[in-house]
Amino acid sequence: MSRKITLAELDATDRRLVEMARDESSHAYAPYSGFAVGAAVRTQSGRTYAAANLENASYGLAICAEVAAVTAANAAGDFDIEAIAVVGHKFMSPQDSTQVVTPCGGCRQVVSEAAQVAKTDVRVFSCNGDLSEIVESTISELLPTAFGPANLGVPDKWPKMRETLHATVKELKKLGLEGQAARPHLP
Ligand code: THU
Repeated sequence: MSRKITLAELDATDRRLVEMARDESSHAYAPYSGFAVGAAVRTQSGRTYAAANLENASYGLAICAEVAAVTAANAAGDFDIEAIAVVGHKFMSPQDSTQVVTPCGGCRQVVSEAAQVAKTDVRVFSCNGDLSEIVESTISELLPTAFGPANLGVPDKWPKMRETLHATVKELKKLGLEGQAARPHLP
């Protein structure tokens, strides 16, 4: 079951993650909603990646902080996430920012996919702006009976596909270098 936990009760590693998410919320680009969200993920390597929400004049294109943080971990080739912290607040009226922010439905689906790839029930820390309220859950609690990669037979296929991907990029790089050697005068 999801449980309330205080900042003081978190161990130093989880506390750092939650504080990182809060600090990251200052990078939100949120001129339309006035709602800033920061997210921080920790991977099994111990490294952390943070991101904030990014809105757009075409409102539906807003990118959630959680999705951006998971994307940042993957972009670093470090996709096996074990925990994520989320902090949200109405920065134009901080007095109304007492409510804990849990990941939206789409973000739960994205975290659930990463959790299945990492073979971990990712821990989720949902927090209010000043971290006076923190709820700890697991992604399977937030999104039970999720549709995921297993439904499409991906766990068996992806490791081999990823090897092919890496070999292909290596080959593309080699071809690029050979191309440059053959055409040294071209920019
Ligand atoms: N938002 C997130 O970044 N994560 C969530 O889980 C909920 C919503 C953002 C999207 C939008 O920029 C703003 O919060 C208000 O919905």
